[in-house]
Amino acid sequence: MEHVTFYNGNEMPIIGLGTFRVENNDECKAAVKHAIESGYRHIDTAMVYENEEMVGQGIAEGLASTGLNRSDLFITSKLWLADYGRVNVADAYETSLNKLGLDYLDLYLMHWPGLDEALMIDTWQGMEDLYKNDKVKNIGVSNFNTEHLEALLAQVSIKPVINQIEFHPYLTHSQLRRYLEVQNIQAESWSPLMNAQILEDATVKAVASEIGKTPAQVIIRWNVEHGVVVIPKSVTPSRIEENLNVFDFVLTKGQIERLDQLNEDKRIGPDPLEFSGN
Ligand SMILES: NC(=O)c1ccc[n+]([C@@H]2O[C@H](COP(=O)([O-])OP(=O)(O)OC[C@H]3O[C@@H](n4cnc5c(N)ncnc54)[C@H](OP(=O)(O)O)[C@@H]3O)[C@@H](O)[C@H]2O)c1
Repeated sequence: MEHVTFYNGNEMPIIGLGTFRVENNDECKAAVKHAIESGYRHIDTAMVYENEEMVGQGIAEGLASTGLNRSDLFITSKLWLADYGRVNVADAYETSLNKLGLDYLDLYLMHWPGLDEALMIDTWQGMEDLYKNDKVKNIGVSNFNTEHLEALLAQVSIKPVINQIEFHPYLTHSQLRRYLEVQNIQAESWSPLMNAQILEDATVKAVASEIGKTPAQVIIRWNVEHGVVVIPKSVTPSRIEENLNVFDFVLTKGQIERLDQLNEDKRIGPDPLEFSGN
C-alpha cells in the first residue's frame, strides 16, 4: 500500500474503503471486515452516513481476524453541518467515537463549507481545539473550493491537511488541485467511480482493455498516478479486492492525458457554493 505524507509529517494510505449509502447493518460490517482482511488499512465514514456503529464493528472484527492493531489502520469520519459551531465540535466528535467504538480518529473532516463563512471559521476553530488537545491525529475539510480555503487560511492558525472533493475524469478540478498543491494540502477524491457511471465511458473501457485491467482499476490507478487519495465504495467482496489491486501496473502518460481530457466539469453531487445540508 502506498501512502501520502501530509505537511505535518503524518501519513495516510492512498486507497481506502468508502461507505456512503451503506446501511448500518451486517452488510456494512462484513464489507469493512473484508476490506481489512484484503489489505485495506483506511476506512472512510461520516456521521451523516448513519453507519458508524457497523463500520466500527467491522473494524473490530477485521482487527480480531487479522491480528492487526488499531494503530495499523487509518479511520476518517466527518462533522455534519447540523453540528457546526466551535462549541459543538467536541461533542459531535465524541458521539462519532462512541458509535465507532474508537478512542481517536486518524482524520476528522468538516463535511461541507456551508453557506455562512463566519460559522465555517468558528467551526474550524473547534476542529483546531480537538487537534491541539491531541484528541485527533489530523484535521481536514471536504468540499471546499479555492474561495473557501482562501477565507479559512486567512483567518485560522492550523491549515487543513486534506480536502476531500468530488473527483473523477468528468470533474478534474485542475485549478483547485493546483491551489492545493501550492498550499501543500493533500487532495482526496470522493465518488471516484462517479457512483459506477464512469465505468461505462468508452475511453475508460478502451484504456482498461489496452492494459488488461478493469475500468474501476483504471480509474483508481489514475487517482494514484495523480497523487490523489481515493476511497472507492463497494460492498461486494470481489470488487473490494479488485479496487485495491492497482499496484502492479502503471498508466502511460498518454493514457493519463486521455483520461484527463474527459473533463466536463460535471458533478454528480451538490455544488459546495449552494449546499446548506438541507
Ligand atoms: N465528502 C463527501 O461529501 C462525500 C460525498 C460522497 C461520497 N464520499 C465518500 O466517497 C466514497 C466513494 O464515493 P461513492 O460511494 O459516492 O461512489 P463510488 O465509489 O464512486 O462508486 C460506488 C459504486 O460503484 C460500484 N463499484 C465499486 N467498485 C466497483 C467495481 N470494481 N466494478 C464495478 N462497480 C463497482 C459500487 O457497487 P457495490 O457497492 O454494489 O459493489 C457502488 O455502486 C463514499 O462511499 C464516501 O466514503 C464523500
